[in-house]
Amino acid sequence: MLPLFLSLTLAAPSDSPTTRSANTVIPITGTNMGAVSLSDGNTRVYYQDATNGTIIQLVISNDFEIGVWENSALIVPADEVRQNSPIAVSLLSNAAGFEQIRLGFFSPDNVLSEYIWEAEITGGFQGGPTCTDCVTNKGFVGAAGSQMLYALATSATSPPVIRYGFVLDSGDSNTISEAVNTGSGWVVATLT
Ligand SMILES: *[C@@H]1O[C@H](CO)[C@@H](O)[C@H](O)[C@H]1NC(C)=O
Repeated sequence: MLPLFLSLTLAAPSDSPTTRSANTVIPITGTNMGAVSLSDGNTRVYYQDATNGTIIQLVISNDFEIGVWENSALIVPADEVRQNSPIAVSLLSNAAGFEQIRLGFFSPDNVLSEYIWEAEITGGFQGGPTCTDCVTNKGFVGAAGSQMLYALATSATSPPVIRYGFVLDSGDSNTISEAVNTGSGWVVATLT
């Protein structure tokens, strides 16, 4: 039996690490997630790791029927995102190849926060305290523990409009509000 066992375990390895295998799944344990699909089908899934609280990006080559996992990367450090934060993602793209991902979540102090990725900018995501374009530095505070968060973006106009829907901590906490950036900075407006 030993030769047979060896011939099975020493079978030729896959051509590439992304080749589909019936026996391999990608281990993921998270609390919340969001996703966008780029114009070429390349798919980005964002989830908060259930164990260490970071937000991780999964790059997947397409939908899961034909696509495969390509890589994972830590995007948001645990100390910038609250436990069990909602995650909302939007995508801007145009025919010229411009693509931008906006990744929204809440900080440990419930500040509406985001990371921004642009296809043309090398170095990956920008975010955290040094990101002047991010809604984060406006300090809009969401209701503690709320799971209400959406992200919207439109490239139909120039500059694009970036929107996050959430529940404000103060004032109108019994309804939803939007942080909106139409190109001249962020404002917050409550649904009326
Ligand atoms: C958190 O967990 C993810 C997924 O298991 C891992 O990729 C990442 O390196 C971990 N980060 C830290 C800071 O432990």
